[in-house]
Amino acid sequence: AASPIGGYTTLSDRIVETSELADIDWDNLGFAFLSTDYMYVMKCAQGGNFPKGELQSFGNIELSPSAGVLNYGQGLFEGLKAYRKEDGTILLFRPEENALRMRLGAERMCMPSPTVKQFVEAVKATVLANRRWVPPPGKGSLYIRPLLMGSGAVLGLAPAPEYTFLIYVSPVGNYFKEGVAPINLIVEHELHRATPGGTGGVKTIGNYAAVLKAQSAAKAKGYSDVLYLDCVHKKYLEEVSSCNIFVVKDNVISTPAIKGTILPGITRKSIIDVARSEGFQVEERQVAVDELLDADEVFCTGTAVVVSPVGSITYLGKKVSYGEGGFGVVSEKLYSVLTRLQMGLSEDKMDWTVEL
Ligand code: COI
Repeated sequence: AASPIGGYTTLSDRIVETSELADIDWDNLGFAFLSTDYMYVMKCAQGGNFPKGELQSFGNIELSPSAGVLNYGQGLFEGLKAYRKEDGTILLFRPEENALRMRLGAERMCMPSPTVKQFVEAVKATVLANRRWVPPPGKGSLYIRPLLMGSGAVLGLAPAPEYTFLIYVSPVGNYFKEGVAPINLIVEHELHRATPGGTGGVKTIGNYAAVLKAQSAAKAKGYSDVLYLDCVHKKYLEEVSSCNIFVVKDNVISTPAIKGTILPGITRKSIIDVARSEGFQVEERQVAVDELLDADEVFCTGTAVVVSPVGSITYLGKKVSYGEGGFGVVSEKLYSVLTRLQMGLSEDKMDWTVEL
Protein backbone atom coordinates (compact mmCIF):
# COMPACT_ATOMS: atom_id res chain seq x y z
CA ALA A 1 0.00 0.00 0.00
CA ALA A 2 1.05 3.60 -0.46
CA SER A 3 3.07 5.04 2.39
CA PRO A 4 2.08 8.46 3.72
CA ILE A 5 3.93 11.48 2.39
CA GLY A 6 5.74 13.09 5.31
CA GLY A 7 5.16 16.59 6.58
CA TYR A 8 1.45 17.06 5.85
CA THR A 9 -1.40 17.95 8.10
CA THR A 10 -4.57 16.18 7.04
CA LEU A 11 -7.38 18.67 6.76
CA SER A 12 -9.98 16.70 4.86
CA ASP A 13 -12.54 17.05 7.64
CA ARG A 14 -11.97 20.73 8.38
CA ILE A 15 -11.61 22.66 5.15
CA VAL A 16 -12.28 26.29 5.90
CA GLU A 17 -14.22 27.71 2.96
CA THR A 18 -14.85 31.40 2.78
CA SER A 19 -16.81 33.46 0.30
CA GLU A 20 -14.40 36.37 0.73
CA LEU A 21 -11.83 36.94 -1.99
CA ALA A 22 -8.15 36.56 -1.19
CA ASP A 23 -6.45 39.88 -0.54
CA ILE A 24 -4.20 40.19 -3.61
CA ASP A 25 -3.84 42.66 -6.50
CA TRP A 26 -6.43 41.16 -8.85
CA ASP A 27 -5.73 43.80 -11.51
CA ASN A 28 -2.17 42.71 -12.16
CA LEU A 29 -2.22 38.93 -12.41
CA GLY A 30 0.29 37.45 -14.82
CA PHE A 31 1.11 33.79 -15.25
CA ALA A 32 3.23 33.36 -12.14
CA PHE A 33 2.83 30.94 -9.27
CA LEU A 34 0.92 32.22 -6.25
CA SER A 35 0.39 29.71 -3.47
CA THR A 36 -3.18 29.11 -2.27
CA ASP A 37 -4.73 27.34 0.73
CA TYR A 38 -5.13 23.69 -0.23
CA MET A 39 -3.83 20.98 -2.52
CA TYR A 40 -5.20 17.53 -3.26
CA VAL A 41 -3.05 14.43 -2.76
CA MET A 42 -3.71 10.79 -3.61
CA LYS A 43 -1.18 7.96 -3.73
CA CYS A 44 -1.09 4.40 -4.95
CA ALA A 45 1.30 1.52 -5.50
CA GLN A 46 2.53 0.33 -8.92
CA GLY A 47 -0.06 -2.01 -10.36
CA GLY A 48 -2.72 -0.76 -7.96
CA ASN A 49 -5.65 1.60 -8.19
CA PHE A 50 -5.84 5.01 -6.63
CA PRO A 51 -7.89 4.93 -3.43
CA LYS A 52 -9.59 8.05 -2.09
CA GLY A 53 -7.36 11.12 -1.88
CA GLU A 54 -7.57 14.11 0.43
CA LEU A 55 -7.21 17.84 0.60
CA GLN A 56 -4.23 19.02 2.59
CA SER A 57 -2.80 22.42 3.44
CA PHE A 58 -0.75 23.64 0.49
CA GLY A 59 2.94 23.10 1.15
CA ASN A 60 6.14 21.41 0.10
CA ILE A 61 6.07 17.67 -0.44
CA GLU A 62 8.65 15.17 0.67
CA LEU A 63 10.19 12.85 -1.92
CA SER A 64 13.01 10.34 -1.77
CA PRO A 65 16.03 11.64 -3.73
CA SER A 66 15.60 8.34 -5.54
CA ALA A 67 11.99 9.04 -6.64
CA GLY A 68 11.25 7.92 -10.20
CA VAL A 69 10.09 11.36 -11.23
CA LEU A 70 13.33 13.03 -10.08
CA ASN A 71 15.68 10.49 -11.60
CA TYR A 72 13.97 9.31 -14.75
CA GLY A 73 11.29 11.90 -15.47
CA GLN A 74 8.34 9.60 -14.86
CA GLY A 75 5.79 12.36 -14.60
CA LEU A 76 2.83 14.00 -16.32
CA PHE A 77 1.00 17.22 -15.79
CA GLU A 78 -2.30 18.74 -16.87
CA GLY A 79 -3.66 22.26 -16.99
CA LEU A 80 -7.22 23.56 -16.86
CA LYS A 81 -8.95 26.68 -15.67
CA ALA A 82 -11.87 27.78 -13.48
CA TYR A 83 -13.69 31.07 -14.06
CA ARG A 84 -15.91 32.96 -11.63
CA LYS A 85 -19.24 34.15 -12.98
CA GLU A 86 -20.98 37.39 -11.94
CA ASP A 87 -23.45 35.36 -9.86
CA GLY A 88 -20.56 33.80 -7.90
CA THR A 89 -20.75 30.32 -9.41
CA ILE A 90 -17.54 28.82 -10.72
CA LEU A 91 -17.15 27.19 -14.13
CA LEU A 92 -14.71 24.47 -15.11
CA PHE A 93 -14.00 23.84 -18.78
CA ARG A 94 -14.09 20.24 -20.04
CA PRO A 95 -12.29 18.69 -17.02
CA GLU A 96 -13.06 15.15 -18.22
CA GLU A 97 -10.91 15.85 -21.31
CA ASN A 98 -7.90 16.50 -19.06
CA ALA A 99 -8.71 13.34 -17.14
CA LEU A 100 -8.77 11.29 -20.34
CA ARG A 101 -5.55 12.85 -21.61
CA MET A 102 -3.85 12.05 -18.31
CA ARG A 103 -4.98 8.43 -18.61
CA LEU A 104 -3.48 8.17 -22.12
CA GLY A 105 -0.25 9.78 -20.94
CA ALA A 106 -0.08 7.50 -17.91
CA GLU A 107 -0.34 4.47 -20.17
CA ARG A 108 2.61 5.77 -22.27
CA MET A 109 4.66 6.49 -19.13
CA CYS A 110 3.85 3.18 -17.35
CA MET A 111 1.96 4.82 -14.53
CA PRO A 112 -1.39 4.06 -12.92
CA SER A 113 -3.79 6.98 -13.19
CA PRO A 114 -6.95 8.18 -11.47
CA THR A 115 -10.26 7.31 -13.11
CA VAL A 116 -12.02 10.11 -14.98
CA LYS A 117 -14.50 10.38 -12.10
CA GLN A 118 -11.73 10.53 -9.48
CA PHE A 119 -9.87 13.17 -11.48
CA VAL A 120 -12.92 15.38 -11.99
CA GLU A 121 -14.08 15.03 -8.37
CA ALA A 122 -10.58 15.89 -7.15
CA VAL A 123 -10.46 18.98 -9.39
CA LYS A 124 -13.85 20.12 -8.10
CA ALA A 125 -12.87 19.59 -4.45
CA THR A 126 -9.59 21.46 -4.92
CA VAL A 127 -11.25 24.42 -6.64
CA LEU A 128 -14.01 24.66 -4.04
CA ALA A 129 -11.54 24.52 -1.16
CA ASN A 130 -9.57 27.33 -2.82
CA ARG A 131 -12.55 29.32 -4.07
CA ARG A 132 -11.36 32.61 -2.57
CA TRP A 133 -8.48 32.43 -5.07
CA VAL A 134 -10.72 32.28 -8.16
CA PRO A 135 -10.36 35.79 -9.66
CA PRO A 136 -13.38 38.10 -9.90
CA PRO A 137 -15.12 38.05 -13.32
CA GLY A 138 -12.97 39.64 -16.01
CA LYS A 139 -9.77 39.60 -13.92
CA GLY A 140 -8.43 36.17 -14.87
CA SER A 141 -8.95 32.57 -13.88
CA LEU A 142 -7.82 29.94 -11.42
CA TYR A 143 -5.26 27.75 -13.17
CA ILE A 144 -5.52 24.14 -12.01
CA ARG A 145 -2.40 22.01 -12.25
CA PRO A 146 -2.88 18.24 -11.76
CA LEU A 147 0.37 16.24 -11.53
CA LEU A 148 0.97 12.51 -11.73
CA MET A 149 4.41 11.28 -10.76
CA GLY A 150 6.45 8.25 -9.89
CA SER A 151 7.06 9.15 -6.24
CA GLY A 152 8.49 5.80 -5.12
CA ALA A 153 12.23 5.16 -4.92
CA VAL A 154 14.07 3.44 -7.81
CA LEU A 155 17.70 3.09 -8.73
CA GLY A 156 17.77 0.82 -11.76
CA LEU A 157 15.66 2.12 -14.63
CA ALA A 158 12.13 0.84 -14.02
CA PRO A 159 8.65 2.16 -13.26
CA ALA A 160 8.53 3.55 -9.71
CA PRO A 161 6.90 1.39 -7.01
CA GLU A 162 4.58 4.23 -5.86
CA TYR A 163 2.67 7.08 -7.57
CA THR A 164 1.36 10.40 -6.38
CA PHE A 165 -1.49 12.34 -7.99
CA LEU A 166 -1.50 15.93 -6.78
CA ILE A 167 -3.49 19.03 -7.70
CA TYR A 168 -2.50 22.57 -6.87
CA VAL A 169 -4.00 25.82 -8.15
CA SER A 170 -2.87 29.38 -8.75
CA PRO A 171 -4.79 32.50 -9.83
CA VAL A 172 -3.56 33.68 -13.25
CA GLY A 173 -4.00 36.41 -15.83
CA ASN A 174 -2.46 36.48 -19.29
CA TYR A 175 0.27 33.97 -20.12
CA PHE A 176 2.45 36.14 -22.34
CA LYS A 177 3.82 39.44 -21.06
CA GLU A 178 2.33 40.95 -24.23
CA GLY A 179 -1.11 40.37 -22.63
CA VAL A 180 -3.58 39.90 -25.48
CA ALA A 181 -1.30 41.82 -27.88
CA PRO A 182 0.24 39.73 -30.68
CA ILE A 183 3.28 37.63 -29.87
CA ASN A 184 6.44 37.36 -31.97
CA LEU A 185 7.70 33.87 -32.70
CA ILE A 186 10.92 32.50 -34.13
CA VAL A 187 11.02 29.18 -36.01
CA GLU A 188 13.61 26.82 -34.55
CA HIS A 189 15.45 24.87 -37.23
CA GLU A 190 18.01 22.90 -35.22
CA LEU A 191 16.43 21.78 -31.96
CA HIS A 192 13.25 19.73 -31.95
CA ARG A 193 10.52 19.27 -29.40
CA ALA A 194 9.47 15.72 -30.24
CA THR A 195 10.30 12.74 -32.41
CA PRO A 196 8.09 10.07 -34.05
CA GLY A 197 7.63 7.27 -31.54
CA GLY A 198 8.62 9.56 -28.69
CA THR A 199 6.42 11.25 -26.10
CA GLY A 200 5.49 14.51 -27.88
CA GLY A 201 1.83 13.51 -27.94
CA VAL A 202 1.49 13.19 -24.16
CA LYS A 203 1.91 15.81 -21.49
CA THR A 204 5.03 14.42 -19.90
CA ILE A 205 7.23 16.83 -17.97
CA GLY A 206 10.35 16.13 -20.05
CA ASN A 207 8.75 17.57 -23.21
CA TYR A 208 8.73 20.93 -21.52
CA ALA A 209 12.26 20.77 -20.12
CA ALA A 210 13.41 19.90 -23.64
CA VAL A 211 12.30 23.25 -25.06
CA LEU A 212 13.86 25.49 -22.43
CA LYS A 213 17.16 25.92 -24.32
CA ALA A 214 15.56 27.12 -27.56
CA GLN A 215 12.98 29.17 -25.65
CA SER A 216 15.61 30.91 -23.51
CA ALA A 217 17.69 31.75 -26.58
CA ALA A 218 14.61 33.14 -28.36
CA LYS A 219 13.60 35.24 -25.36
CA ALA A 220 17.14 36.62 -25.06
CA LYS A 221 16.73 37.86 -28.64
CA GLY A 222 13.39 39.52 -27.81
CA TYR A 223 11.01 36.89 -29.21
CA SER A 224 7.98 35.78 -27.22
CA ASP A 225 8.46 32.06 -27.93
CA VAL A 226 9.58 29.36 -30.36
CA LEU A 227 7.73 27.56 -33.15
CA TYR A 228 9.05 24.02 -33.73
CA LEU A 229 9.28 22.09 -36.98
CA ASP A 230 9.00 18.34 -37.51
CA CYS A 231 12.33 16.61 -37.03
CA VAL A 232 12.13 14.36 -40.11
CA HIS A 233 11.64 16.88 -42.92
CA LYS A 234 12.38 20.07 -40.94
CA LYS A 235 9.58 21.52 -42.97
CA TYR A 236 6.19 21.08 -41.29
CA LEU A 237 4.88 23.08 -38.34
CA GLU A 238 4.53 21.24 -35.04
CA GLU A 239 3.71 23.54 -32.14
CA VAL A 240 4.96 26.39 -29.97
CA SER A 241 6.69 25.55 -26.64
CA SER A 242 3.48 25.81 -24.62
CA CYS A 243 0.66 25.90 -27.21
CA ASN A 244 -0.70 24.69 -30.56
CA ILE A 245 -0.60 26.74 -33.76
CA PHE A 246 -3.24 27.68 -36.36
CA VAL A 247 -2.80 29.36 -39.75
CA VAL A 248 -5.63 31.21 -41.54
CA LYS A 249 -5.67 31.73 -45.31
CA ASP A 250 -8.73 32.89 -47.28
CA ASN A 251 -10.99 32.00 -44.34
CA VAL A 252 -9.72 28.39 -44.25
CA ILE A 253 -8.20 27.52 -40.88
CA SER A 254 -5.39 24.95 -40.85
CA THR A 255 -3.56 23.34 -37.96
CA PRO A 256 -0.97 20.53 -37.79
CA ALA A 257 -2.66 17.13 -37.53
CA ILE A 258 -2.21 15.10 -34.34
CA LYS A 259 0.25 12.30 -35.13
CA GLY A 260 2.12 11.55 -31.93
CA THR A 261 4.54 14.46 -31.91
CA ILE A 262 2.00 17.20 -31.20
CA LEU A 263 0.20 17.74 -27.92
CA PRO A 264 -3.53 17.15 -28.43
CA GLY A 265 -4.61 20.44 -26.90
CA ILE A 266 -8.09 20.69 -25.40
CA THR A 267 -8.26 24.34 -26.46
CA ARG A 268 -7.04 23.24 -29.92
CA LYS A 269 -9.86 20.70 -30.15
CA SER A 270 -12.42 23.19 -28.82
CA ILE A 271 -11.34 25.92 -31.26
CA ILE A 272 -11.68 23.47 -34.17
CA ASP A 273 -15.27 22.71 -33.07
CA VAL A 274 -16.08 26.37 -32.44
CA ALA A 275 -14.66 27.36 -35.86
CA ARG A 276 -16.69 24.66 -37.64
CA SER A 277 -19.84 25.70 -35.79
CA GLU A 278 -19.17 29.28 -36.92
CA GLY A 279 -19.10 28.06 -40.53
CA PHE A 280 -15.32 28.01 -41.12
CA GLN A 281 -13.57 25.24 -42.99
CA VAL A 282 -10.95 23.67 -40.71
CA GLU A 283 -8.18 21.40 -41.98
CA GLU A 284 -6.04 19.20 -39.72
CA ARG A 285 -3.10 18.33 -41.94
CA GLN A 286 0.62 18.83 -42.50
CA VAL A 287 1.17 22.60 -42.62
CA ALA A 288 4.42 23.55 -44.38
CA VAL A 289 6.52 26.35 -42.91
CA ASP A 290 6.33 28.15 -46.30
CA GLU A 291 2.60 28.61 -45.80
CA LEU A 292 3.43 31.18 -43.12
CA LEU A 293 4.64 33.50 -45.88
CA ASP A 294 1.22 34.25 -47.31
CA ALA A 295 -1.04 33.48 -44.35
CA ASP A 296 -3.68 36.08 -43.44
CA GLU A 297 -3.53 35.33 -39.72
CA VAL A 298 -1.65 33.05 -37.37
CA PHE A 299 -2.71 32.32 -33.80
CA CYS A 300 -1.85 29.97 -30.94
CA THR A 301 -4.18 28.06 -28.63
CA GLY A 302 -3.66 26.48 -25.23
CA THR A 303 -5.20 26.39 -21.78
CA ALA A 304 -2.65 28.86 -20.46
CA VAL A 305 -2.45 31.09 -23.57
CA VAL A 306 -6.19 30.70 -24.48
CA VAL A 307 -6.09 32.17 -28.02
CA SER A 308 -3.07 34.39 -28.71
CA PRO A 309 -2.66 36.28 -31.97
CA VAL A 310 0.77 36.00 -33.61
CA GLY A 311 2.12 39.36 -34.84
CA SER A 312 5.23 38.07 -36.58
CA ILE A 313 7.21 34.94 -37.30
CA THR A 314 10.91 34.93 -38.08
CA TYR A 315 12.34 32.01 -40.04
CA LEU A 316 15.98 31.78 -41.11
CA GLY A 317 16.40 35.54 -40.61
CA LYS A 318 13.28 36.49 -42.59
CA LYS A 319 10.39 38.10 -40.70
CA VAL A 320 6.74 37.88 -41.79
CA SER A 321 4.20 40.12 -40.02
CA TYR A 322 0.47 39.67 -39.55
CA GLY A 323 -2.32 42.06 -38.61
CA GLU A 324 -2.02 45.55 -37.32
CA GLY A 325 -1.07 45.08 -33.71
CA GLY A 326 -4.15 43.15 -32.64
CA PHE A 327 -6.24 40.07 -33.31
CA GLY A 328 -7.11 39.20 -36.91
CA VAL A 329 -10.83 38.99 -37.69
CA VAL A 330 -10.97 35.20 -37.61
CA SER A 331 -8.94 34.70 -34.43
CA GLU A 332 -10.83 37.51 -32.66
CA LYS A 333 -14.14 35.84 -33.49
CA LEU A 334 -12.95 32.43 -32.24
CA TYR A 335 -11.39 33.95 -29.12
CA SER A 336 -14.60 35.76 -28.32
CA VAL A 337 -16.90 32.76 -28.83
CA LEU A 338 -14.66 30.45 -26.79
CA THR A 339 -13.93 32.77 -23.88
CA ARG A 340 -17.55 33.95 -23.54
CA LEU A 341 -18.54 30.30 -23.26
CA GLN A 342 -15.76 29.53 -20.75
CA MET A 343 -16.69 32.53 -18.59
CA GLY A 344 -20.40 31.75 -18.67
CA LEU A 345 -21.26 34.88 -20.67
CA SER A 346 -23.00 32.95 -23.45
CA GLU A 347 -25.18 29.87 -23.58
CA ASP A 348 -23.08 26.69 -23.48
CA LYS A 349 -24.61 24.89 -26.45
CA MET A 350 -21.61 22.53 -26.56
CA ASP A 351 -22.18 21.35 -22.98
CA TRP A 352 -18.52 21.95 -22.20
CA THR A 353 -18.70 23.79 -18.89
CA VAL A 354 -19.14 22.24 -15.47
CA GLU A 355 -20.70 24.46 -12.85
CA LEU A 356 -19.57 24.36 -9.21
C1 COI B 1 -1.27 24.84 -20.49
O1 COI B 1 -1.54 25.57 -21.43
O2 COI B 1 -2.07 24.64 -19.57
C2 COI B 1 -0.01 24.12 -20.42
O3 COI B 1 0.01 23.10 -19.84
C3 COI B 1 1.23 24.71 -20.97
C4 COI B 1 2.18 25.10 -19.89
C5 COI B 1 3.56 25.19 -20.42
C6 COI B 1 1.78 26.38 -19.22
